[in-house]
Amino acid sequence: MKINLSFEAKQSGTELHIYSCFNKIKESKETKAAKKSTAKSSTKPEKVLAHSHWPEELLEAFEHSVASKHYKGEMGEMFSLTLVSGASAIIVGLGDKTKLTKEIVRRQMAHAYKAISNKFVDATLHIDGFLVKGLAEETITAMVEALRMTSYAFDRHLAVKKKVKLETLVFATNEKKTSAKKFEAAIAEGNTIGDCIKVARDFVNEAPNILHSEAYAKEVEKDAKTLKNVKIKILGKAELKKEKMGMFLSVNAGSAYEPRLVHLTYTPAKATSKTKHVALVGKGLTFDTGGYSLKPGASMMNMKFDMAGSATVYAAFRAAVLLQLPVKISCYLAMTDNAVNELATMPDSIVTARNGKTVEILNTDAEGRLVLGDVVNYACDSKPDALIDAATLTGAILVALGNEVCGLFSNDQKLADSLLKSAKNVDEYMWQLPIIDEHKNDMKALVADLKNIGGSSFGGSAKGAAFIENFVEAGISWAHLDIAGIGDSQGHLPYCPAKGGSGIVIRTLVDYLKNV
Ligand code: BES
Ligand code: MN
Ligand code: ZN
Repeated sequence: MKINLSFEAKQSGTELHIYSCFNKIKESKETKAAKKSTAKSSTKPEKVLAHSHWPEELLEAFEHSVASKHYKGEMGEMFSLTLVSGASAIIVGLGDKTKLTKEIVRRQMAHAYKAISNKFVDATLHIDGFLVKGLAEETITAMVEALRMTSYAFDRHLAVKKKVKLETLVFATNEKKTSAKKFEAAIAEGNTIGDCIKVARDFVNEAPNILHSEAYAKEVEKDAKTLKNVKIKILGKAELKKEKMGMFLSVNAGSAYEPRLVHLTYTPAKATSKTKHVALVGKGLTFDTGGYSLKPGASMMNMKFDMAGSATVYAAFRAAVLLQLPVKISCYLAMTDNAVNELATMPDSIVTARNGKTVEILNTDAEGRLVLGDVVNYACDSKPDALIDAATLTGAILVALGNEVCGLFSNDQKLADSLLKSAKNVDEYMWQLPIIDEHKNDMKALVADLKNIGGSSFGGSAKGAAFIENFVEAGISWAHLDIAGIGDSQGHLPYCPAKGGSGIVIRTLVDYLKNV
């Protein structure tokens, strides 16, 4: 689907016009009186439609329609009609205008897209009635993001692919043409972010026999080669041995494939000594069987998504490069599967981490922290101003926060606050949880410096984070995002597929990189 911009609000030849409609409480004499008196009025307040952006043609057709008498413009309430020209129109209810947010617009864009995409070849979206006050460009970006996210389908393995009718969507506005550049840029940004989310979802959805570590690294390399100002380095088994990444290697021990550590560096064109440097680290477990601590069948299903952390940080990195953000970014994608063969790591094994700490592996299913520990430590070498890792680390985060909220842990409240602010800016759910000394103590072992699971399973997500913190070098600001709950199956969000990679938190990371 192409998204074009037009300053000609009247689009002749379009099959479908999309408008918005608000409602407000009718201010009758009685309600005004009721407002003054303290007595509560028992009658429900009457709502009237508010639609300052409707053209004459729409108003006439709407008033002509008998059914319009019952239309209240409530949030999500759609009304279809035929204009005198013969073109179709739908009105998308957005409820109370004073409460309009970008997220409401995103969600309603998703609903509208689903309603029209198989009925019309082209459509005009009259954007003026959708723009959040004072946030025109941001809303336009949000609309494009939502449309791109909603139109996503993972159909590469299907013999018969569902065809979508909708080819062109025109964003039409009555604004002054002087806004053209800003609006075009806002659309381009939405397209870029939407496209990067697609890249991440494609990686997450691909099967583990196809996207194993070696193939995944190749795919990322192929894609990253198209990016400007980006350097690529890929470490294999021999290099990881040289780096003494004993924990990472222990997870890969039972695999038919070599591990890969993809190390990407983006240096902005106008970098100076003041340019901030952010390191992103992603868990890239192309499949997690649990290893010798084998997962039961039902829990193992869908563990192809255990590389969502790496797909998430790669997508954010990719978007930052394409948007030419003035921040240096080092991105580390740690790829392997967690499989079982005669060489697989046995529980009770003791390995030595890159930073020299010894670790007793009591449960081979707590593998993400082993891989991340070594790679986070490696990332510290570049002395970033902030280091953020993203990982589908614990099932416990679903118990703590549900499958709608990203868990955040950090050793630096300033960094945590920035991430929470970015999540808020782009309407993604993120909640901070603590790492207390007791959590850290519970990760200490009797026969080694550390063990990879806690003595009790309570607070499992915090203990996973506490373990990783052991490998963060002193003085480095670090944040850990546990995305096990939100990495896939976000069907409660209308712009996400019910099953499969979500791309959630990519927008938060891009916002963070924009504002760092
Ligand atoms: N990849 C899983 C985490 C996970 C579990 C993600 C369920 C999504 C849904 C991780 O490697 C894992 O297995 N974690 C264990 C840790 C435990 C052994 C301490 C878990 O959560 O059970
Ligand atoms: Mn596991
Ligand atoms: Zn895992």
